[in-house]
Amino acid sequence: MTRWLITGAGGQLGADLLRVLAGRPDVEAVGLARANLDIADEAAVRAAFADISPDVVINAAAYTAVDAAETDETAATLGNEVGPRNLATAAASSDATLVHVSTDYVFPGDATEPYDEDAPTGPRSVYGRTKLAGEQAVLAAHPVGARVVRTAWVYGASGANFVKTIARLERERETISVVDDQQGSPTWSRDLATGLVALADSAAPVGVYHCTNTGSTTWFAFARAIFEELGADPQRVQPTTTAAFPRPAPRPAYSVLSDRKWRAAGLPQLPHWRDALRTAFATAPDLMRSA
Ligand SMILES: NC(=O)c1ccc[n+]([C@@H]2O[C@H](COP(=O)([O-])OP(=O)(O)OC[C@H]3O[C@@H](n4cnc5c(N)ncnc54)[C@H](OP(=O)(O)O)[C@@H]3O)[C@@H](O)[C@H]2O)c1
Repeated sequence: MTRWLITGAGGQLGADLLRVLAGRPDVEAVGLARANLDIADEAAVRAAFADISPDVVINAAAYTAVDAAETDETAATLGNEVGPRNLATAAASSDATLVHVSTDYVFPGDATEPYDEDAPTGPRSVYGRTKLAGEQAVLAAHPVGARVVRTAWVYGASGANFVKTIARLERERETISVVDDQQGSPTWSRDLATGLVALADSAAPVGVYHCTNTGSTTWFAFARAIFEELGADPQRVQPTTTAAFPRPAPRPAYSVLSDRKWRAAGLPQLPHWRDALRTAFATAPDLMRSA
């Protein structure tokens, strides 16, 4: 029996990690949402480790409000750098394995082929900079037992996300416009959770990994696929450009991630993003529609 601690258990990934671990008779999983553990509170993190004595920790907690981060760097730093450092320090002191989740936003987004795990980073937003600082803090504080996993375009049954927004807009509007000049890999949080658990169970070396559903698309084509899953006419989704929809934080134009190291470690690739979307709707049809 191993004890697993999931931080950020109230988020979409945290909720799916607990769902995946619930099927494991050899695992005792404790999920702590922000109300039960603020990872930026160093004393609270120490107390949680003393109480739970986890063998494995997966950190799904993060400050994820990408636009709000531009004007609240302090909050983003607490959630994305200070908190992960606290977890890594506590995990190192207690010899626990730590899997920490990061983002495609650590890259500048101007590539034309998938970003390798070792490709130079260059975040263009506060969110991306604080997440990169979190990666570095984790690997420095727990050099023998931490793995960082970058993912992208995450959606799931719990929490707010692009899929649910599109489902709501489908109900509210006859046509919608979605940007067609940003490319990435939509990733179902349940598949990601399964991948993170496999990584935590494996003997894969410490370091940085990439894990997304395979294949890539644009937000526009993703939205059309969501309309298909909703049984709506995909032609009601029209393409537009990033320039037509300015946001406080710049978005990467290209953020497809190579999973070279993931595969080299013998870890299973996640399904293609289009198949994952179909499975997500089949698994929780009502939740995926509820914005
Ligand atoms: N969503 C995406 O598209 C995406 C893309 C790439 C990478 N990621 C990464 O994937 C991971 C999981 O993201 P997600 O999509 O599951 O995000 P999410 O649904 O926003 O969940 C994050 C959770 O962390 C909690 N949290 C924030 N600050 C905290 C703190 N100081 N202590 C404890 N909990 C805290 C949040 O609570 P509150 O809601 O109360 O603040 C929320 O429940 C994150 O590392 C994120 O950076 C996400």
